[in-house]
Amino acid sequence: MIFLATILFSFYFTFGASIATDPGYDCRPGQKCWPTSQEWSQFNASIDGHLYETIPIAAPCYKNSPYYDETACQLVQSYYGDSIPRGEHFGQTYWLNWETCRNSGCALLESDPTTTLYGSCSIARLASYYVDVQNTSHISAALQFAKTHNIRISIKNTGHDYYGRSSVPDTLAIWTHNLDTLKFNSNFTANNCPAANGQNVGELGAGVTAGDAYRFFNNHSMDITGGYEQSVGIVGGFAQGGGVGSFTTTYGLMADNAVEFEVVTADGEVRIINQCNDPDLFWAMRGGGGGTYAVLTKYRVQVYPSLPIHIFTFIANFTEAGTEPSDVLNNTALREILTAHANYQTQWSAQLITGQLEYFPEKVSLNLVLPYGDDGSKLKSATAAFSQFLGNRTDLAVDSHQYTSYPNYAAYLAVSAADAKVTEPSGIFSMLSSRLIPREVFASPESVSELVKGVIQGIAGARTLLNLTGVQIVPETPVTNLDIGQASSAHPAWRTALWHVIQVGEWLEPLEDDVLQSTGEGFVKLVDPLKKLSPGGGAYLNEAHYLEPDWEQTYFGSFYDRLVAVKNKYDPTHIFDCYKCVGWRGDQE
Ligand SMILES: *[C@@H]1O[C@H](CO)[C@@H](O)[C@H](O)[C@H]1NC(C)=O
Ligand SMILES: *[C@@H]1O[C@H](CO)[C@@H](O)[C@H](O)[C@H]1NC(C)=O
Ligand SMILES: *[C@@H]1O[C@H](CO)[C@@H](O)[C@H](O)[C@H]1NC(C)=O
Ligand SMILES: *[C@@H]1O[C@H](CO)[C@@H](O)[C@H](O)[C@H]1NC(C)=O
Ligand SMILES: *[C@@H]1O[C@H](CO)[C@@H](O)[C@H](O)[C@H]1NC(C)=O
Ligand SMILES: *[C@@H]1O[C@H](CO)[C@@H](O)[C@H](O)[C@H]1NC(C)=O
Ligand SMILES: *[C@@H]1O[C@H](CO)[C@@H](O)[C@H](O)[C@H]1NC(C)=O
Ligand SMILES: *[C@@H]1O[C@H](CO)[C@@H](O)[C@H](O)[C@H]1NC(C)=O
Repeated sequence: MIFLATILFSFYFTFGASIATDPGYDCRPGQKCWPTSQEWSQFNASIDGHLYETIPIAAPCYKNSPYYDETACQLVQSYYGDSIPRGEHFGQTYWLNWETCRNSGCALLESDPTTTLYGSCSIARLASYYVDVQNTSHISAALQFAKTHNIRISIKNTGHDYYGRSSVPDTLAIWTHNLDTLKFNSNFTANNCPAANGQNVGELGAGVTAGDAYRFFNNHSMDITGGYEQSVGIVGGFAQGGGVGSFTTTYGLMADNAVEFEVVTADGEVRIINQCNDPDLFWAMRGGGGGTYAVLTKYRVQVYPSLPIHIFTFIANFTEAGTEPSDVLNNTALREILTAHANYQTQWSAQLITGQLEYFPEKVSLNLVLPYGDDGSKLKSATAAFSQFLGNRTDLAVDSHQYTSYPNYAAYLAVSAADAKVTEPSGIFSMLSSRLIPREVFASPESVSELVKGVIQGIAGARTLLNLTGVQIVPETPVTNLDIGQASSAHPAWRTALWHVIQVGEWLEPLEDDVLQSTGEGFVKLVDPLKKLSPGGGAYLNEAHYLEPDWEQTYFGSFYDRLVAVKNKYDPTHIFDCYKCVGWRGDQE
């Protein structure tokens, strides 16, 4: 990466057309260029007092912090691992990786929040200051201030970001969390673009979370193409990077459903963009990554008449296999269930069946999900043989084996959100590596066998690196939306994918530098067998590994150069650069 950056920088120096306009945005606290407290105060006054110094969420629990406060600490402890109240704080990220830094941070132990993880409280990777944005004027003012002082900008909503792109040290952050308005237009008139007029268009402010959106549109008997975890800010990095969930098989990616955006561009201008106005910027912000081209403030998106949600659940422990890596490689039940799953996938995807299927060294936890307007018969008949195959096995201890139907997504959410709160706590450390698996891999027994082998090698390998690991197979791919016209900029690999395979690893306490480095390097290699099966393919840029070497091709594919051109047009001075985002120029940034 350093090498790559060097090449790019010498390119800039040699052909330095953009050098005059690119100040680097590299002023850091403590340097002479950093604004004085008087300058910060003047800026604060100019935005009606919405500027704040970052205070880490757990600062009240650190005795040597100026913010030490026992009562405030108890409150934070009570919801430390709960992403909804946690997300109300600027001074945190969902995963501790992105708010802490080597030996510094200000975090608690999620499993016992009375324990502090660091000797003293430091803001570490969190931004220095943030603007609690109330409207677009505050964003324009923040951009102007950052330019004047050569400070880097970061853009953040909830901090639910596996890749940490929304949390950048030494920056002025634009916090969009409180732009949380929601609207429903049964008859939508686009801005100066008759072709984009239509029925049933929702409007979400940049800070709206998935749960609030699902519940709001459900009140209008509508579904929105959001994701699984309800605390995700769905119109931030989620939708701007593609955005997948239970409706993806039926209606495409969230980016595919975009109709119109309100954004603030690097020049401070507020623009309404759609297929007619700034169509290149609109295209880039439909899947080409968050935080890269402009600050999004409103997302207008196609919503759909609400459907019942049907679920098949199967949760069971392996009874005849150990959990050592050699046992995992040799676990017949694991191999046979995964093979059956892979063999059914093509027909399930054709019937729009989706879900989350998790495989661990010690158990399986399978959820097949179908949004469909019936009593559940379609899901039952499509999964009857698989259900019987599972039920017949004698090498499993079954915890749950059932069909459940919910009248709408909001009713399902009430159950799935309670489950996610337990299974996906915030306030821990995590890393992922992932790959999109194309349809053709499922077409022959030989490649299915290679696929199953590759996934199982990953499950076994992950456990040699971390204690809390498993693979999540997500068939939430846009099978009914091939986007022939390339209206979205999400990686073209999405259009042929049937599986998004994620190797997941979690841990609760900071790792030593060298352990973290070797764990990261090991983790990114877990998907090597899957890369071999999908040459020229890609990964979901929001759920991937930060050490991914071939990131341009892996996250953006053949769209990369076109995306760079849009980036250079709308953000010529690179004020919005983020890590391994389009236009990123290396570790110096
Ligand atoms: C900005 O002004 C508000 C309101 O007066 C104040 O609460 C806040 O602490 C100020 N921010 C900074 C960084 O001084
Ligand atoms: C934003 O809010 C401020 C008050 O905080 C107001 O002066 C300004 O006019 C508003 N701008 C817009 C575009 O609504
Ligand atoms: C929807 O708006 C269009 C104009 O954009 C108008 O021609 C049409 O009559 C409206 N339809 C309804 C159902 O209100
Ligand atoms: C949905 O409607 C119910 C009942 O009118 C109301 O209590 C609730 O606040 C609404 N929820 C949202 C998110 O609008
Ligand atoms: C795999 O299982 C077979 C039969 O149970 C056993 O003979 C073999 O030693 C096992 N291999 C490994 C690597 O554990
Ligand atoms: C499961 O067992 C039943 C009864 O023994 C048998 O009829 C059926 O074929 C088996 N199904 C599968 C998928 O193995
Ligand atoms: C599966 O394993 C878990 C964890 O050890 C245990 O709590 C659960 O009871 C087991 N389930 C069955 C059906 O044995
Ligand atoms: C994994 O568990 C072992 C045994 O409990 C422990 O010594 C080790 O520190 C754990 N590793 C990580 C990365 O948490």
